[in-house]
Amino acid sequence: MKRRKFLKNSTLGSAAVLGVTPLVSCREAASPMPKPELLPGGPVAICTWDFKNATARAWEVLQEGGSALDAVEAGVMVEEADPGNQTVGLGGRPDRDGYVTLDACIMDSLGNCGSVMGLEGYVHAISVARKVMEQTPHVILVGEGASRFAREQGFPTRDLLTEASRQQWMEWKKNEDYQPVINIENHDTIGMLAMDADGALAGACTTSGLAYKMRGRVGDSPVIGAGLYVDPEVGGATATGLGEEVVRTVGSFLIVELMRQGKSPQEACEEGVRRILARKKGKPDFQIGFIALNTGGETGGYCIHPGFTYRQYDAQGHRNTPVSSYLKSSES
Ligand code: GLY
Repeated sequence: MKRRKFLKNSTLGSAAVLGVTPLVSCREAASPMPKPELLPGGPVAICTWDFKNATARAWEVLQEGGSALDAVEAGVMVEEADPGNQTVGLGGRPDRDGYVTLDACIMDSLGNCGSVMGLEGYVHAISVARKVMEQTPHVILVGEGASRFAREQGFPTRDLLTEASRQQWMEWKKNEDYQPVINIENHDTIGMLAMDADGALAGACTTSGLAYKMRGRVGDSPVIGAGLYVDPEVGGATATGLGEEVVRTVGSFLIVELMRQGKSPQEACEEGVRRILARKKGKPDFQIGFIALNTGGETGGYCIHPGFTYRQYDAQGHRNTPVSSYLKSSES
């Protein structure tokens, strides 16, 4: 029953559920509107960074009674289609040979999952990943096989390398000393988690990966358990940042397991970052950001360097939440 949450989000809605006529005195009617009654849980959509158009789209789907799975797919598709976002989909920065290759994965509330790695020529890697989940006996398709599958499924092909990204790549090629810049080039993967009116969870994660990566390099984003993990009984987590470090600790799975053991989403994200840093000496020169959502609708996030935020849309509104960081501004 997709709409139960929305009925319960107002006093009138609660009365309607009970089948009674709400009695409101003039005095009560003149007082400020009560805050919406929040059920434990959703609907809620959160995503890494301030991708407000993505959470707005996901919320629209949830409000129409759509599933969490439909919401996360539709939400991240907004960023995949935006040529101005140079870390996801169309307009993503290429690998060092000039090819834009996309990585994405998706998980539903039953633990089903699908993933594509190194997909070329298709904007909506997340939708191809969903098709892998729903239309094949497999979980992951890579490279040429992923592209062939996308073609067979009827996805339109497109050159993903925009002029802006091509020019930047040409500049990069001139400078052998180039180093990625924290929070700009490498860390804008969109990971999204949602819970629908039925309490079902889903997650999606999509990226063009590390700018100027080696050909064939795959990061955390399409790796189930690393860039994304969803457990219907516990919650979900997703990551942004330098994928190699997230893969080494299977970060999103770790965070979900920590929530299973009783940690809040916030505490679990903090421990996820600490596990990564426990393996490092000196000040980390890379960024990682985690966000998490549990089945009670609580959210949390944590990162290494200041600057990471996450977007949240729920019955309390649409907001960008700053995330506390392991390093403070003066240390970063
Ligand atoms: N987190 C995205 C990547 O490292 O590819």
